[in-house]
Amino acid sequence: MTVSLENLRRCHIAVDMGAARTRVFVKGAGLVVDEPSCAAVNTRTGSLKAVGTLAERMTGRTPDYIRVVRPVTGGTVIDIEMAQRMLRHLLGDKLRRQLRRKPRLRAAASTPHDSDPLAQRATIETLVGLGASRVELVDTVIAAAVGCGLPVEDATATMIIMCGAATTQVAVLSIGSIVTAQRIPVGGNAIDQAVLQYLRHHHELVLPSQSVRPLQLALSGNGLTEEGPMTTEINGRDVATGVARSVKVDTAAVREAIYTPLTAVKDGIGRVLRECPPDLVADLADTGIRMVGGSALLPGLDRLLGDATGMPVAIADQPDLCTILGMGAMLDGKVQPLAVDPTASAH
Ligand SMILES: Nc1ncnc2c1ncn2[C@@H]1O[C@H](COP(=O)(O)OP(=O)(O)OP(=O)(O)O)[C@@H](O)[C@H]1O
Ligand SMILES: [Mg+2]
Repeated sequence: MTVSLENLRRCHIAVDMGAARTRVFVKGAGLVVDEPSCAAVNTRTGSLKAVGTLAERMTGRTPDYIRVVRPVTGGTVIDIEMAQRMLRHLLGDKLRRQLRRKPRLRAAASTPHDSDPLAQRATIETLVGLGASRVELVDTVIAAAVGCGLPVEDATATMIIMCGAATTQVAVLSIGSIVTAQRIPVGGNAIDQAVLQYLRHHHELVLPSQSVRPLQLALSGNGLTEEGPMTTEINGRDVATGVARSVKVDTAAVREAIYTPLTAVKDGIGRVLRECPPDLVADLADTGIRMVGGSALLPGLDRLLGDATGMPVAIADQPDLCTILGMGAMLDGKVQPLAVDPTASAH
């Protein structure tokens, strides 16, 4: 699925709906939305209590009749109506009015390279419900490659690893297209879960899911590498008694816990390399791997992947924004057309 750059240039708005965050780029205005893909719903009345950051903060703190839902998972919209309501609120009145003034609103949306027709339909319907008369689908990894400044149109191969919240996509790109790619159902969420499980099993400590990030941050810098501190102290709740207590956690053990789900990612990279034509693999030894997506910031992940592949690894600037900024560059006409495939547009 290589979308026509000509069609993309005619789009007014680009949307990247991720399992963790939703981002919107409006032509002429830039990045206008970067918020958690979350909505808090009052189940008695059906009304929305909050969206985005506010809704995410409510997770685990609401009375029974308020549910925090995530309408997107693994690059797929699973609840079209809720996704529309969430997007409408995130855009806000002013922006919606501006967009409504466009007689034929054109929108672009990112989808994983191997998303099935049903998933693509769900993305398209979500945006059609917001008033788009035409929706262009863009490969997430291609958009991200553009966004992090990789020479996508070159005949030299580049490998990009998109570390999202629900999935990790590994792809080799050459001449503006994907040569081989894999989507692995492991991402930041699975890593957070691995840490929570480790604490529960080994320290009988329950941690709210929002507290995993501070733990990772506490370990950042050299944190999750061997040079980091041996132990770190964290606060949680005792599994049995429910009383708050703090424990000293062995960082090497946390590192091990985090690496377990990551073996699937290493396998995925291996599969991509095996399927890749030998000439391109030779290129990759020089060009190396570019990491994008929010989980690329996980301390030590770049080194782990470098050790596993023996290739140089670099994390993109603002890795979580690469996809949306790449689509933005395409909308603004900053990308020179080369691979133009007029078949890849949809209503
Ligand atoms: N500094 C950080 N350290 C570790 N992990 C991080 C950091 N910042 C963000 N993350 C993780 O990155 C993930 C979000 O990344 P991103 O915004 O790329 O996801 P997404 O696009 O919503 O997900 P997907 O593409 O899988 O649908 C979350 O799982 C979050 O925990
Ligand atoms: Mg994403």
